[in-house]
Order: sequence, then C-alpha cells, then structure tokens
Amino acid sequence: MNLNNPKIRRLEWDDFAELAEQELAYHMELERNPHFGIGTYGSKPEPTGLVDWFTKLYTAALCGDAFVSVAEVGGKIVGMCHIEAGHFAEGPHVGELGISVVKKHRNAGIGARLIKAALEDSRGRFEIISSSVFSTNKSAIALYKRFGFKEYSVAPKFVKRGHVYISSVSMYLDIGRGIPRIKKDND
Ligand SMILES: CC(C)(COP(=O)(O)OP(=O)(O)OC[C@H]1O[C@@H](n2cnc3c(N)ncnc32)[C@H](O)[C@@H]1OP(=O)(O)O)[C@@H](O)C(=O)NCCC(=O)NCCS
Repeated sequence: MNLNNPKIRRLEWDDFAELAEQELAYHMELERNPHFGIGTYGSKPEPTGLVDWFTKLYTAALCGDAFVSVAEVGGKIVGMCHIEAGHFAEGPHVGELGISVVKKHRNAGIGARLIKAALEDSRGRFEIISSSVFSTNKSAIALYKRFGFKEYSVAPKFVKRGHVYISSVSMYLDIGRGIPRIKKDND
C-alpha cells in the first residue's frame, strides 16, 4: 500500500456506506475539537439525513451539477472533494467546493490530488470556484492558496461552537481561463 499514491476516482453509488461512516467520524471529531473545519449537522447525523445528503450529491453528479472526486487507499475511501452548483439563479457559473480527508491520512498530499481532480472535471461547467474556510483552518487555507485561491472577505465570528467564535474566510478561484498550475514551495 503506497500512502503517497492514492487512487483518485469519481463518486460511485456504492460509496454511500463508507462516506456515511466518515460523516459520523467527522461529527465525533467536531465534538472533540470546536475548530474542526467543516460544518456538520449540529447533532449526530441520522441515517435518513445521510441518505438524503448522499442521494442529492449523487444525483447532482449525474446531472453535471456536481463534480465529486474520491480518494482510496488500500481499497478504502479516505477523502472526498465536491464542487457543487449553488441555488442562486444568476450564479450558474459558480461552484462551491468542499473537501475532507480522514484524520489519519491528512498532510500526505491527498487533499491536493482531490482538488485537482474535481477542478479538472468541473472545467467548462463552472468558471468561479468558491469556498468558505474557518480562519483557524490553516491547512485548508494553505492548500487552497497553492491552487491560486484568493481571499475576498472575512466574516468575523460567524461561527459559534459552544463558547468558541471562529471567523469565516471566503475564498475564490477563477478557472474561466484554465486551472492555474499548482504552486510548489520554490515557485
Ligand atoms: C483541509 C484538508 C482537506 C486538507 O487535506 P490534506 O490531505 O491534509 O491536504 P494536503 O496534504 O494536500 O495539503 C495540506 C497542506 O496544508 C499544510 N499545512 C498543514 N498544517 C498547516 C498549518 N498548521 N499551517 C500551515 N499549513 C499547514 C501542509 O503542509 C500541506 O501543504 P504542502 O503540501 O504545501 O506541504 C484536511 O486537513 C481535512 O480534511 N481537514 C478536516 C476537514 C476540513 O477542514 N475541510 C476543509 C473545509 S474548508
């Protein structure tokens, strides 16, 4: 098993069980760490909510309104990146990006490979990619910046978890003229 060489592929219908399990693991991670970088369901995700979430995502992918890349290591899914159309009528060219990699496999370059695959698939459908990131999520901010994402606003204290306030940073990438070459440390 080569940890640095995950298989990157598109979402499949059979991925539901593994991805649902991961959503539950992310919820538990959030319970331990209020700075955990993705919004979850607030309460423990219910099976019906997970089925609804996955069905909508898979349907959007079939319709060309979502582009989902999945990373597998040793035959197990370890991360997912999705770029989805919003519901704003005048924003059909804007895709919203979300990404997660299971804790054990972070900082091994999987996030970068997932974003690259989802961006490449979404070319021609979206021109602007946006994402909201917690200001404390240094790893996601560093990753997005490597792809050329730029910050365009900061919403102070927009997230409140218990007594912890977190600012929300909005970032965007213009891929209308192509996907920028990923930045290496010596660029
Ligand atoms: C954000 C996330 C998807 C990144 O996935 P990943 O597989 O770890 O990403 P990569 O390994 O490709 O890149 C991570 C980068 O962050 C950098 N990084 C890690 N911790 C950092 C820190 N504290 N400060 C600055 N950079 C940091 C790493 O060095 C790496 O950059 P490099 O490749 O240039 O060295 C992953 O951390 C995750 O799933 N987090 C929980 C969910 C989440 O926050 N999702 C994002 C919501 S916007």
